[in-house]
Amino acid sequence: MNQFPPGFLWGAATAAHQVEGNNTNSDLWVLEHIQPTLFVEPSLDACDHFHRFREDIRLLASLGLNTYRFSVEWARIEPERNHFSLAALDHYRRVLAACHEYGVTPMVTFYHFSSPRWFAAMGGWEKKPAADLFARYCERAAAHLGDLIGFASTFNEPNLPMLLRWISNIDIPFPTVLRMGRQAARAVGSNRFGCFFLGDAAKLQEAMIGAHHRARAAMKSGPGSYPVGVNISLQDEQATGPKNKRDQKCREVYDEWLKAAAQSDYAGIQTYTRCRVGKRGDLGPEEGIELTQMGYEFWPEALEICLRYAHERCGGVPLYITENGVATEDDSRRVEYIRRALSGVLRCLADGIDVRGYIHWSLLDNFEWIMGYRPKFGLVAVNRLTQERRIKPSAYYLGAIARENRMTDLLEAPTGAEYPV
Ligand code: BGC
Repeated sequence: MNQFPPGFLWGAATAAHQVEGNNTNSDLWVLEHIQPTLFVEPSLDACDHFHRFREDIRLLASLGLNTYRFSVEWARIEPERNHFSLAALDHYRRVLAACHEYGVTPMVTFYHFSSPRWFAAMGGWEKKPAADLFARYCERAAAHLGDLIGFASTFNEPNLPMLLRWISNIDIPFPTVLRMGRQAARAVGSNRFGCFFLGDAAKLQEAMIGAHHRARAAMKSGPGSYPVGVNISLQDEQATGPKNKRDQKCREVYDEWLKAAAQSDYAGIQTYTRCRVGKRGDLGPEEGIELTQMGYEFWPEALEICLRYAHERCGGVPLYITENGVATEDDSRRVEYIRRALSGVLRCLADGIDVRGYIHWSLLDNFEWIMGYRPKFGLVAVNRLTQERRIKPSAYYLGAIARENRMTDLLEAPTGAEYPV
């Protein structure tokens, strides 16, 4: 079988802080501009998607993709606590309208790692009012945008801090992290700086699960009628030592959030690689295996394993692959990655697993958090000096599959000439 079900969503994703540029009111902007910082470079103009969203959405549609996943930025929508910006909300209405204009279903993430600086100055997710504040922001945004939204998710990878706790193969420079936190607090005139990446992962998880349910209810009470889910980072966890260690990791990192997704309208699955779990935590890549620019193993088969895992835990809710991709300068490896990942999706579908969409990370080469602009995840390259976009062969490849809604027989990476845009 090489056919995908009718109505399958085919898309590409971005996140506000990584592409819009000049997200100056966010906590991450603060962290990028203090000393010491873990960021190798600041985001600055990013892809200037804030101004170029129309041409980017048009480009996505012209490739044959029918879905655009992007995030709205809390730091723009609520620039000061209790003050909502109509101008920012209107901006996102224009983004949503552009999606509809080009026949693209908008999938909106309400939180993709960045918070307003006032929220960080207050202490962030670990502080009591956090869930209330987030739910209220979602309510406001959904009230203004809901009639144009196709799908929504509350959080992008809220389980990432738990996942990071298992990393034992990378040296995290803890003194620098602590100093960065102190400097950031000083920069925002506070004695604390609570951001998604810093702090107590277990506390954060508890607060965010509560916030997810409240925010979802708030969105549901507003205009429009759209599925609301959550996007979970899910990697293929393989035991190399005692199996109970691997099982413990899955319980801690994935299962609570998969339960939350099961009580929602869908689960967003975001998979990049496999991890080998040893006695003391992650072991890192196995010798001899091809690595991506992120230092992950090139392992597209992880997606199939993760879909099966999520299906077991989430029961009946539909699964959407909301991120899957590879950081590489060699675009033919991206084509290969997509081909093998999608073959796994087809095997899941053949077994009756309810997978309804594949959204590739990412539409554009963009700001990869602390690693800056070096890793290239985009289907489309962005010239950092001119902001010019250049479509890569992998974009044509994915677009051709999307258009036909089936795996094509292309064995070679297409050049683009086959698919005039
Ligand atoms: C995140 C993206 C990120 C991507 C690649 C996911 O964890 O949602 O923001 O760029 O992975 O690392």
